[in-house]
Amino acid sequence: MFKSKIAGIGMYVPSNVVTNNDLLKYMDTSDEWIQERTGIKERRFAHRTDETTTTMGVEAAKIAIERAGITPQDIDFIVFATLSPDYYFPGCGVLLQRAMKMKEIGALDVRNQCSGFVYALSVADQFIKTGMYKNILVVGAEKHSFGLDFTTRGRNISVIFGDGAGAVVLQPADISSSSGILSTHLHSDGEAAEILAMYNPGTHANHWVKEKVADFNSNEIGDMFMSHEMIDNAQNFPFMDGQSVFKKAVVKFPEVIMEALQQNGLQTSDLKMLIPHQANLRIAQFVQQKLKLNDDQVYNNIQKYGNTTAASVPIALCEAWESGKIKEGDLVCLAAFGSGFTWASALLRW
Ligand code: UT7
Repeated sequence: MFKSKIAGIGMYVPSNVVTNNDLLKYMDTSDEWIQERTGIKERRFAHRTDETTTTMGVEAAKIAIERAGITPQDIDFIVFATLSPDYYFPGCGVLLQRAMKMKEIGALDVRNQCSGFVYALSVADQFIKTGMYKNILVVGAEKHSFGLDFTTRGRNISVIFGDGAGAVVLQPADISSSSGILSTHLHSDGEAAEILAMYNPGTHANHWVKEKVADFNSNEIGDMFMSHEMIDNAQNFPFMDGQSVFKKAVVKFPEVIMEALQQNGLQTSDLKMLIPHQANLRIAQFVQQKLKLNDDQVYNNIQKYGNTTAASVPIALCEAWESGKIKEGDLVCLAAFGSGFTWASALLRW
């Protein structure tokens, strides 16, 4: 048995900066509202046609692979987390494999939204531990700017999200080595699946909830999972009951962080850095308070990038490391909560 360690990390954000004031062109909102409720000052939006979720993932992956001291041809498995894939299918993993001219290796897409990267890291960790693979590329990437309702109707969601990508290369480390992933913890509760969801396109046919979430023409074979009526009625955009998500998040974040620490016989005071999924600065501050962490024990960059869902944890981890806030031997906790609900943590020694 081995343990796995992060051998290289990279991130990519598009150059196009979109400030809160820039959004005023499209909807009734204000810089003050957005900053006060979320902490966000600006986000990045991908180039409309030249950048996709996959191409941003590729850019982050190139850096992670180079920093690991290997080449794309050395990668023997890909795990790609996103909720905004280039295609409904196939997934981004194979598009990245093609774009990076990798060997005919396995490619797996993870659809766990905000906790996607931590789930993906956990999957990769298991493959490394068993000795099945030696260089796994784990990517989290999103191009939200292509799939949001940028009218006042969608403002509670569209002001929050941004585009970007992060990636790590996982490699085996000797089981006796002090650095590496100590444990991962995955959870879900589908009871509230519809509270933060994009229902359409989908095959649900209004099966799960009383209030219909899609307008179909009829009930006949040949019905589409995307109809003109759905588009006319803005049913092709994500839905979020923000307050319900917020309430659950502030309970589950501390829980899953403590679970990771306790399983390893460690305490919050041992933590060098908590990298929370960048959902909302207020959520991160609440978690910090609840766990009595100092300001320099929590890394936040939602102010610059907004919520980049599956990309937020690897982007924040990469920035924290690049700026020297994480050094060899430091105890780092990654934690995420979001749609599903799913939530997860990973405790690692850098
Ligand atoms: O990573 C995915 C997981 N997602 C999350 O973790 C999100 C968690 N939830 C949140 O971050 C917050 O609930 C939001 C930031 C989404 C919303 O903040 P809130 O304090 O819960 O606001 P609200 O939804 O209760 O809306 C308050 C008011 C409403 O107006 P009325 O009904 O009080 O007149 C909204 O219509 O703010 C209005 N509003 C806005 N006003 C200006 C909603 N969005 C906007 C906006 N600009 N963008």
